Amino acid sequence: MHLHRYEKYWLTFSIGMLFVFLLVLGISAFAQGNQPPSHSTTIDPTQVDVTAPFDNPGLEKIDDQTYIANIVAMAFGYMPNKLEVPVGSKVIFRVTSRDVIHSFTIPKTNVNMMIVPGHVGQVEHTFTEPGEYLVLCNEYCGTGHHYMQMRIEVTE
Ligand code: CUA
Repeated sequence: MHLHRYEKYWLTFSIGMLFVFLLVLGISAFAQGNQPPSHSTTIDPTQVDVTAPFDNPGLEKIDDQTYIANIVAMAFGYMPNKLEVPVGSKVIFRVTSRDVIHSFTIPKTNVNMMIVPGHVGQVEHTFTEPGEYLVLCNEYCGTGHHYMQMRIEVTE
């Protein structure tokens, strides 16, 4: 089979790009720790308010450096809407929705998780800098979507 010279260039270029994209994906996943949030735990979305631990959302202290934050997302806010942890803490966020699809996004971090009713999304983050962190919803969820937020206070 005869291939035109330019066709060979294009084939080499496009196969090369494929490997470049796979390399970028690999670096992002394994070196930078960008992982898809886990959706392996399910929950009845109509029973969120009476299902542990979401019947009593908030922080659970595991040890001095580790917390679990159980959070309920709803139109148009999060419950609780404020958390406080000391700097250096690893926080395991477990978030579910009791109505529609939301997200749990902390700008300038790797935390960006879609919150699907019926599932518990889990992601963890270590807060190495003190300050106030804003949590936003970036899935359009209704007329109050742009008001949906909560705050995480990371103290010295
Ligand atoms: Cu919740 Cu947008």
